[in-house]
Amino acid sequence: TTIYLSDYRPFGFDVISVELTFTLHPNRTRVASRIAFAPRPNGDGRFFLHGEDLKLISARIDGAPAEPDITDDGLTCAVPDRPFIWEAEVETDPAGNTALEGLYMSGGMYCTQCEAEGFRKITYYPDRPDVMSVFTVHIHGPHPVLLSNGNPVNRSENQASWHDPWPKPAYLFALVAGELHNHPGSFTTKSGREVELNLWVRPGDEGKCEFGMQALKDSMKWDEDVYGREYDLDIFNIVAVDDFNMGAMENKGLNVFNSSAVLASPDTSTDMNFERIEAIIAHEYFHNWTGNRITCRDWFQLCLKEGLTVYRDSQFTSDMRSAPVKRISDVIDLRGRQFAEDQGPLAHPVRPESFQEINNFYTATVYEKGAELIRMLRCLVGADAYSKAVDLYFDRHDGEACTIEDWLRVFEDQTGRNLTQFMRWYSQAGTPTLKVEEEWNSGVYTLIFTQSLKPSDATPDPLPQVIPIAAGLLAPDGREAVPTQVLEMTEATQSFSFEGLDARPVPSVMRGFSAPVVLESDLPVAHRAFLLAHDTDPFNRWEAGRSIARDSLLNAIRTGAAPDPAYMDGMRVTLQDDTLDPAYRALMLGLPGQSDLATALHKEGTTPDPDAIYAATEAMRDARAAHLGDLAQPVYAAHQVTEPFSPDARQAGHRALANAMLALLGRLDGGAQAARQYAAADNMTQKLAALSVMLEAGNGDDALAAFEAEWKDDRLVMDKWFALQVVASRPDQTAKIAARLTEHPDFNWKNPNRFRSVMGALAGHHPGFHAKDGAGYHLLADWLIRLDPVNPQTTARMCSAFQTWRRYDDARQTLIAAELDRILATPDLSRDTTEMLTRIRGNS
Ligand code: ARG
Ligand code: ZN
Repeated sequence: TTIYLSDYRPFGFDVISVELTFTLHPNRTRVASRIAFAPRPNGDGRFFLHGEDLKLISARIDGAPAEPDITDDGLTCAVPDRPFIWEAEVETDPAGNTALEGLYMSGGMYCTQCEAEGFRKITYYPDRPDVMSVFTVHIHGPHPVLLSNGNPVNRSENQASWHDPWPKPAYLFALVAGELHNHPGSFTTKSGREVELNLWVRPGDEGKCEFGMQALKDSMKWDEDVYGREYDLDIFNIVAVDDFNMGAMENKGLNVFNSSAVLASPDTSTDMNFERIEAIIAHEYFHNWTGNRITCRDWFQLCLKEGLTVYRDSQFTSDMRSAPVKRISDVIDLRGRQFAEDQGPLAHPVRPESFQEINNFYTATVYEKGAELIRMLRCLVGADAYSKAVDLYFDRHDGEACTIEDWLRVFEDQTGRNLTQFMRWYSQAGTPTLKVEEEWNSGVYTLIFTQSLKPSDATPDPLPQVIPIAAGLLAPDGREAVPTQVLEMTEATQSFSFEGLDARPVPSVMRGFSAPVVLESDLPVAHRAFLLAHDTDPFNRWEAGRSIARDSLLNAIRTGAAPDPAYMDGMRVTLQDDTLDPAYRALMLGLPGQSDLATALHKEGTTPDPDAIYAATEAMRDARAAHLGDLAQPVYAAHQVTEPFSPDARQAGHRALANAMLALLGRLDGGAQAARQYAAADNMTQKLAALSVMLEAGNGDDALAAFEAEWKDDRLVMDKWFALQVVASRPDQTAKIAARLTEHPDFNWKNPNRFRSVMGALAGHHPGFHAKDGAGYHLLADWLIRLDPVNPQTTARMCSAFQTWRRYDDARQTLIAAELDRILATPDLSRDTTEMLTRIRGNS
């Protein structure tokens, strides 16, 4: 069944309070609920409670036995036409819950995941985000640690009670119980509230907590300083869980994390891990206001909390680290995941209008494009009006479940702007193309822009969107002739003129990537080399180099052309420019991903050939090693960090640049330098980079075995070990290596991290996954069929590996179609996977 936004109706009852009593048992946990309901004045009186996989033991209304009608997805019951108390007792099986949704067990501990619709697997309840209530929770169990949301109110032997004073929807409910180690901390809020902070981990992980704890304190401080948002309970708990479908979850006062998104130490985590952990801790913490205090009316509004919170965490990372580096990384990610999603059958608006399984809409479009919309809004109204509008949002809507309309209305009220056209960014699917042309006429310089959005099933009749175009003009000598200004484009075609210029300028448009569009430029190619050398905007300077590399690769793929000398020259200058941040230089050296090249080819109407893309990329890397080889050793040496390891941005930047040089060297010395680094390194960043270069150079087998022996007991490090072998494989070996790894005794495929370490790496290896013989497709399909009955959510997510299938040649399409049909023909395929595959498969 499909659910539509237009069908939204409020629930007919208020939930005045909720009291839950858990008696924990691995296979027979009892949950007693006592819920005070009151009919709403205009409700229809229909009393429906969601409930799935529950055994109802008893039900009462105002103390008298009730006789509900039970269906697959819930129950209905006759209820009085006045306030009443609903009491029910149900039984669930946490140990048998491999889907990791609702109450389940992970490594001996009890934990929960309720967003979006998992609470209904815990007890009968109106499991919808617009039903908010105050929860009191009692937990009985012989576990030293018993946690739930809010503040602790009572603790005795084998029992704990929690009270959360802030009304919340059920998806923010959480419970954790087990034998856990605590890493404590504390934070004093700006108004003097002393908050107890705890990071709970499995015994053995004690040494991986300090970084996450510090990130939490930094996040709390940042939200006070930048958004004026203070924490609102006496205690904040974070728990690390090994079996988790996603990154983490913002449950009120009790955030639950995938252990990979919180546990960190220098010898087990890379610099990228540290940065990601800091961002996710911030993200979940920031949800306390953008998500929890103000939540979503329904799941179509998911971007209301996710887009805004991703935007907020990106601001945090920019402040904590390097803003240009963060921006460039985010754009790389957006292009890689969101643009690909927009181009295929899974394209949907940032606010979708229908779905079958909401878990399938936790997408790059909702999250990352959703964040871009907030960023554009801020760019359009200005930083000052943005903060005032957000303050108004908090004032006006605290304690409510809201819509995108509510969000945009605070901006309209604050600024007097009409945001009707801006709303199209939320309702239209697809990535707009923005074409730019120029004119130079007796001292007047004109930029002419044309926007277009390809019609799709999701958006058959697209209309022009408002596009903030941050642009500046550079004088021929490289100085800024016109500093950055925001050109506000509202029409399909629109020109902007600049007068009073002494000479024809070079334009720098879409500075900072001011809108999520594909820029198509008719401007002279020489502009790019000029911008690469001179642009004052760090994003566009990077973008100039990136587009030279992209075009050079695309030419090589189409015609077998040799790499563009302008690119080699540009990289030589960049590499030697010590005024540039090392992290930024390392990013400059990155090449567009092979899947991104396929996206670009498909956009221009060419069928991408994964083998040709691979060959061109390899040729480019070899040519680059040959051209820049003389610099590799000196730059590598200059960026060795000599002081003790710290995961800060400065050190990480040096390591990133040095490791980029190590990869260059690997093509020249067969991995000899990498072997020396591997032996000497005292941190995972350098170890893993070295191992990767050695594997690519074909001399990594011994190191791989030594790595396994050293880390076999560390789950998170072993995930890297599994993934790296697939990532670093030659395309004709990828599926074979992945298949062999699934036979490894530690390939615990029911653990989502471990499953993803092999299958995610396979799907992400463009030429290997798309190997002509179809082995990659076949292997992934086998494992999706196997995982689906165990864990539908993770299976469905992984199906997106096939989302771009229509862009490849007929032979590959035939192979993929056969695999999609094979999976679809599996008896009892989950709703999650069925929805994903039918959307991907499409008709015809
Ligand atoms: N709200 C969580 C976050 O963004 C993600 C929860 C995802 N859950 C899901 N069932 N898809 O941090
Ligand atoms: Zn989130």
